[in-house]
Amino acid sequence: MKKFSRFGQKFTQQSGILQLMADLGQANQSENPNICMLGGGNPASIPAAEAIYQKEMHTMLENPESFNQMLGFYDGPQGSDKFIDILVNLLNQRYDWGLTRKNICLTNGSQSSFFNLFNLLAGEMDDGSHKQVLLPLAPEYIGYFDQGISENMFVAQRPIIEHISDFVFKYHIDFDALEQQLDNNPDIAAICASRPTNPTGNVLTDEEMARLDTLAQKKNIPLIIDNAYGFPFPGAIYMDVNPHWHDNIVLTMSLSKMGLPGARTGIVIANEEIIAAMSAINAVTALAPNSIGACLVSRLIESGEAMHLRENIIRPFYKEKSQSAAKLAERIFTGLPVKIHKPEGAFFLWIWCQKLPISTTELYQRLTARDVYVIPSENFFPNKEDDWKHQTECLRITYTQSETVLERGLNIISEELRKAYSE
Ligand SMILES: Cc1ncc(COP(=O)(O)O)c(C=O)c1O
Repeated sequence: MKKFSRFGQKFTQQSGILQLMADLGQANQSENPNICMLGGGNPASIPAAEAIYQKEMHTMLENPESFNQMLGFYDGPQGSDKFIDILVNLLNQRYDWGLTRKNICLTNGSQSSFFNLFNLLAGEMDDGSHKQVLLPLAPEYIGYFDQGISENMFVAQRPIIEHISDFVFKYHIDFDALEQQLDNNPDIAAICASRPTNPTGNVLTDEEMARLDTLAQKKNIPLIIDNAYGFPFPGAIYMDVNPHWHDNIVLTMSLSKMGLPGARTGIVIANEEIIAAMSAINAVTALAPNSIGACLVSRLIESGEAMHLRENIIRPFYKEKSQSAAKLAERIFTGLPVKIHKPEGAFFLWIWCQKLPISTTELYQRLTARDVYVIPSENFFPNKEDDWKHQTECLRITYTQSETVLERGLNIISEELRKAYSE
């Protein structure tokens, strides 16, 4: 048995994200034709989008200069200057944020952005205090919770549940509780929310965002908005809402959900101090961020093709999928005490199995035995609360798979739920 450091022990223990990525890798490599992979956050295969990337890649490979730019150089620790300038222009033109190239840095994917951001802002401080990140609405993205170098880095807040119809509900931030938390806990160093939210498909309203923004400014702490599914790309938001940025907001983006998760390219938009710090961490931990994604999409953004791809291919694809998945679920779960979160963005259905007599972890095991991979809700709440059964009553499934796989998976989930409810 090796003796690992505290860091080593913390980062090698069993975690939700490790289980998820292991399941994903195993299911992707399996030759079992019955597997219904409804568990991962992989973007869908969209042939029209893939054709555009493939053509662009071919053009780049045939041109020695662009080939070399993509693979033959380290960029600076902030990432490709050219790509950063293109992003500055795009975002200023669309949203008038007044960005300069000192407001953007690249990383090796949003997951890396969050590791660096969280540990930059929270954890052990010089004055002996231990700072935390406040998640204003749990359930939240599974990938955050194990990222703290020190323990206990996250505090999460229960939402208010709005019952929209017999089959649909929506979470809202409980601002009274949030303000109390902020007033009573001097160790909150930042507020962070994903919008759209992974795992629920929730999109915080513009009003909720404005209130979060005001609270963060009042407390003089940054508001981190994880925009992995949002605007300007991939634009997997099916509501009429706006993105927002200023000096106190850290907005993160990624090329992954545009269909390029293998390019491992994250984008952080923040004030100059945070960008300089993130670039310094890049230098120490990675020398420089990956250049491949930046090179591949630079010309596509400049020429407007990336926006065409988002508006006419990617966004309509996911919007249609979200609507048909919701309809399918409503039909298949008829007669069960099951509801879904209103699918407003991202790629997920969040299924609430009310008063489920077994935990969703138990349900997950029964489903895995039948080759259906989902993620049980326990993983999306960093603080376990014994008096809140809702934490163990939900499932996240992705609807990026084909209609056939989704239907088969939902039917098996429905069968297992009917069994569990009758036990
Ligand atoms: C909300 C959210 N944030 C961040 C990430 C990490 O994305 P990546 O590291 O591929 O950019 C994901 C991936 O699923 C996500 O769903």
